[in-house]
Amino acid sequence: MIIENKIKNVKKSISYDKRNNKKISLVPTMGSIHKGHISLIEEALKKSDVVWVSIFINPTQFNDLDDYKNYPRSFNQDIDIIHSLSQNIRIFSPEINEMYSERISYKKFDFGKIDKVMEGKYRPNHFNGVATIVTKLFNIFKPDYTFFGQKDFQQVLIVKNIIEKNFNGIKLITCKTVRETNGLAISSRNRLLDEDDYVNSKIIYEMLVFAKDSLNKLKISEIKDYVSSKINSIPNFKLDYLDFRNSNSLEKIICSKSNQNLHIFICVKINGIRLIDNINAK
Ligand code: PAF
Repeated sequence: MIIENKIKNVKKSISYDKRNNKKISLVPTMGSIHKGHISLIEEALKKSDVVWVSIFINPTQFNDLDDYKNYPRSFNQDIDIIHSLSQNIRIFSPEINEMYSERISYKKFDFGKIDKVMEGKYRPNHFNGVATIVTKLFNIFKPDYTFFGQKDFQQVLIVKNIIEKNFNGIKLITCKTVRETNGLAISSRNRLLDEDDYVNSKIIYEMLVFAKDSLNKLKISEIKDYVSSKINSIPNFKLDYLDFRNSNSLEKIICSKSNQNLHIFICVKINGIRLIDNINAK
């Protein structure tokens, strides 16, 4: 299996493959490979001739230094997992100064409302950091396909926007959220939870389903009050937001009946660990 850490070598390999009419996929990750990533990689293997997985914990998308330091890291295990899927997958795992040769900083993007709400509000400049690294990766790989998980729905909208503006040739494939048996959306951060918090975390998806099922019976404000009291009554749990928004524009929805394209978003902080999830509620 090829593990590359230099941009110039990746570019050489990509241009060779492009000359030979190979279809190229890129699955960007920050490592701690889990079932969610595996579903993206498996989809990429089906779609293309060459699959690259990038593993890079991008410092500019963390607004909190502790969050960056505590982000789970498991490089050797990641390689083993990816290897077990296919020995032909190529890995790009650059050092920080390879991706940020001058300054470790994000560029400012204009995404309108999309990066101002929810994760964008609670994590200032998070999406500028994501957009900075995703743009760099797209410029290096110029892939035919790229794969992102619907768990990070807001991130998917950001990537869609980047592709529409600057990368016409890239096809964005979004894959369904993969869940633990208790319904918790799989995320690298789940491994930071202790046992009790993990068991209790099933409330997150339960409350999303409750919110969706209650749309025709309760007012949105009543659903929010109920969910917030349920979640905040669990030790260590704090609801950051439960938002009802248009799936494309992320405009807030006050009255469910007026909108066909509705998504419900949730963020719960458990002992300081942020977990997000969402559900389509058309
Ligand atoms: O979703 C992630 O893991 C990251 O935000 C991404 C897209 C790899 C950019 O660092």
